[in-house]
Amino acid sequence: MTIKWDARFSVGHSTIDTEHKLLLTTINALEMALRHPEDKEPLLFFMEQLHDFAMAHFRHEEALQLKFLYPFREENATGHEVLEAELTQIRDDVRKICKKTILSTEDMATLHKHISYIAKDWLMVHLLKEDSKMKGFMGDE
Ligand SMILES: [Fe+2]
Repeated sequence: MTIKWDARFSVGHSTIDTEHKLLLTTINALEMALRHPEDKEPLLFFMEQLHDFAMAHFRHEEALQLKFLYPFREENATGHEVLEAELTQIRDDVRKICKKTILSTEDMATLHKHISYIAKDWLMVHLLKEDSKMKGFMGDE
């Protein structure tokens, strides 16, 4: 299922919105790559990209929150820690599975479960539960 950008995802800061769009696009690419599991290279590539983009985005967001003295920045940083740990665990699982020559039914189920979790829960927790609170606090660049 392709996720489309939606106005309710906007936090009212153009750079953060652009970074969120990049996360969303990378997750869509990851889902597309999973449709062709016989070629594990794109799957692994987009997984690594998502992990790296997310870590860079969280640090950038935290720096901007400090700049604008965002009142909920500690709560947001705690949320980032949880999301980081989850994404790193998933990235490590995907790496391990992609090292195998032939993927079992169980491996495929694990990949689908992980990618679906990232798209439906992980991203939505970040965008709608945590970051939507930034609206009105962040100014714009
Ligand atoms: Fe964010």
